Amino acid sequence: MQTYHIVTFGCQMNKHDSEHIAGLLESELGLEPVDDLRRADVIVFNTCAVREGAEERLRGQVATLKPLKAANPDLVIAVGGCVAQHEKERLFALLPHVDVVFGTHNVAEIADLVRRAADSRGRVAAVPDSQRRDLEATPSIRETRWHAWLPIAVGCDNFCSYCIVPHTRGRERSRPFEDVVAEAERLVNDGVVEITLLGQNVNSYGRDLYGTPRFAEVLRAVARTGVARVRFVTSHPKDLSDETLAAIAEEPAVCEYLHLPAQSGSTRVLTAMNRRYTKEQYLEAVERAYAAVPGLALSGDIIVGFPGETDEDFEDTLDLVRRCRYDQLFTFLYSPRPGTRAATMGDEVPRDVAQERFDRLVKIVQRTALEKNLALVGSTVEVLVEGSSKRDAAMLAGRTRTNKLVHAPVPDDADPDRLVGTLVPVEVTEAHAWHLVGRVAGYQHR
Ligand code: 5AD
Ligand code: SF4
Repeated sequence: MQTYHIVTFGCQMNKHDSEHIAGLLESELGLEPVDDLRRADVIVFNTCAVREGAEERLRGQVATLKPLKAANPDLVIAVGGCVAQHEKERLFALLPHVDVVFGTHNVAEIADLVRRAADSRGRVAAVPDSQRRDLEATPSIRETRWHAWLPIAVGCDNFCSYCIVPHTRGRERSRPFEDVVAEAERLVNDGVVEITLLGQNVNSYGRDLYGTPRFAEVLRAVARTGVARVRFVTSHPKDLSDETLAAIAEEPAVCEYLHLPAQSGSTRVLTAMNRRYTKEQYLEAVERAYAAVPGLALSGDIIVGFPGETDEDFEDTLDLVRRCRYDQLFTFLYSPRPGTRAATMGDEVPRDVAQERFDRLVKIVQRTALEKNLALVGSTVEVLVEGSSKRDAAMLAGRTRTNKLVHAPVPDDADPDRLVGTLVPVEVTEAHAWHLVGRVAGYQHR
């Protein structure tokens, strides 16, 4: 075994876990990464179970590996993440070429599992319900030098009726306050410019360890390590505190950006989803956030076509979305997840009805997002340069503090590679719904 390739689906927590998988495969097995999966001796799929599409894509991708496996009997194929945790050993029957199945609590053991599968040329599974080795204490290879994911809690206690996550990631477990801050300090020493704090529900951070939530406190402590930018996902509207909003407003490093999933604008549907807030309470939280944080950008998630959603319920969602003036909205068609309460509710919304609602929603957000971006034309925003634009190598691509994508021509005489990971002021010249265009108003090579 010499080389590996990791395919990551799903959320930021999975991206973070994949950075540890890379670290472990390199440090404990001496493997090297390859871009082309066909040249890898070890292929790892880190999977997502949150919607059906992700599972189907996994099945499709693994099926295409059959000829590779036939050509190279030593090839080890490992499947981890939420699908693995949920399906456990059943995955071997569903995906006949898979050698290793590892759950969300076993990421730290990946090197050992791969080695055992390779030595025995047999199948190895590890999917218990609790962690045996602390993942955060293992090596990790970050995707970029300038950005780091920092989990503050894993798992979720909320049991929204549609969601598989509490079943695949387990109950909420916070990391000790001191560990989080120490890791942030280490990352800053390592040259990290932007830290994203991760948790299914960051607002309740610490409740399991300390009896009361300490999110605002940990956010401020991380912001004071000297890092240029701190972000966090995801917030649950029922737990959004004024202390957290004050930390966003007052700590210069904390980005003016809030991802606050509503899921629906109908109180009736919200109750069936077990979200534990009403439409009015959500709108009140949004108004509180806009009032507390000047220049705040707001994003959200909406599920369309939840069981029993009527036209009237959906009108409530449209109304909520209009009133929230989102900068960005992630919209999802409801996908029943076996094992969740919603999957047994019946009362399905026909696919074409849900699709039509989905399209209407996207149009509205396109309008509010464009309006908010137009208001930025002429102003100067701070952009963290991430690389060149996918479509045009002469254009830099980066993100504002408010998480907006910005394209700007590479300044004359500048070396784009040496701008990656730096913060540059950009004067906004053009606004679109999903990105801004501007002119770099000053730079310093890394
Ligand atoms: N169907 C559709 N969307 C879902 N989400 C979570 N579970 C489902 C499901 N069963 C969405 C929610 C959540 C985001 C990460 O994914 O909007 O906030
Ligand atoms: Fe997917 Fe959710 Fe698991 Fe993340 S936590 S990998 S989004 S199912």
